Amino acid sequence: AEDVLTGKDLAGCRILVSAGPTREEIDPVRYLSNRSSGRMGFAIAAAARRRGAIVTLVAGPVQLMPPAGVEVVSVVSARQMHEVMLGRFAAADVVIKAAAVADYRPMIRQQQKMKKKSEEFILDLEKTPDILAELGQRKAHQILVGFAAETEDLLEHARKKLVSKNLDMIVANDVSIPGAGFDVDTNIVRFIYRNGEMENLELMSKTDVANHLLDRICPLWKKTC
Ligand code: CTP
Ligand code: CA
Repeated sequence: AEDVLTGKDLAGCRILVSAGPTREEIDPVRYLSNRSSGRMGFAIAAAARRRGAIVTLVAGPVQLMPPAGVEVVSVVSARQMHEVMLGRFAAADVVIKAAAVADYRPMIRQQQKMKKKSEEFILDLEKTPDILAELGQRKAHQILVGFAAETEDLLEHARKKLVSKNLDMIVANDVSIPGAGFDVDTNIVRFIYRNGEMENLELMSKTDVANHLLDRICPLWKKTC
């Protein structure tokens, strides 16, 4: 109520954000993961909270301070992130999936540390659930926003993901450019919408990217109220 009175534009909006990598265990001492730092998702959660939203942040293993006033749910694996995101989806107005979910996980987690033996070693992997695509299938009133991390054919790949996952908006991110994507405080992104419109943002801090993103999401959310 206080946020409404102070004119915060996302007052009362329930936002579910996922951030960071996932970690898929191979044995008690090893895992598969990726270079995601979680910074983009944490910046979105913090900015949304400052603008009055009620924020839940589902975070993979990252080394970041939890943003003030945000409920943080820590997860490790894609399986756990899947469970939490699906469980909290119905109560969300806006879902932003900035996490870098592992696409594959070991089919078997070894109970004991694996010993080195042969010169070559093949690890059997299976696909993880595509969390965002599942949310897209279940979408009712929610505004659903995804990220696309690419190193080539950025727009083509991002547009495909926007449609196939039934998103309202996708943030396309060329992670091969220095200053964009993994492990830095800045990003260069493009926003792509369902009607084919696109918006190119300059190099800017992840906090500024977050606020631009929320500027676009806010009117979409207000339409659903
Ligand atoms: N995503 C997800 N669950 C997965 C894989 C991806 O929810 N198992 C989400 C990511 O959080 C992101 C979006 O889908 O918002 C796109 O992720 P990305 O890795 O760019 O695309 P993928 O669909 O995994 O396809 P690929 O990695 O082959 O490009
Ligand atoms: Ca992927």
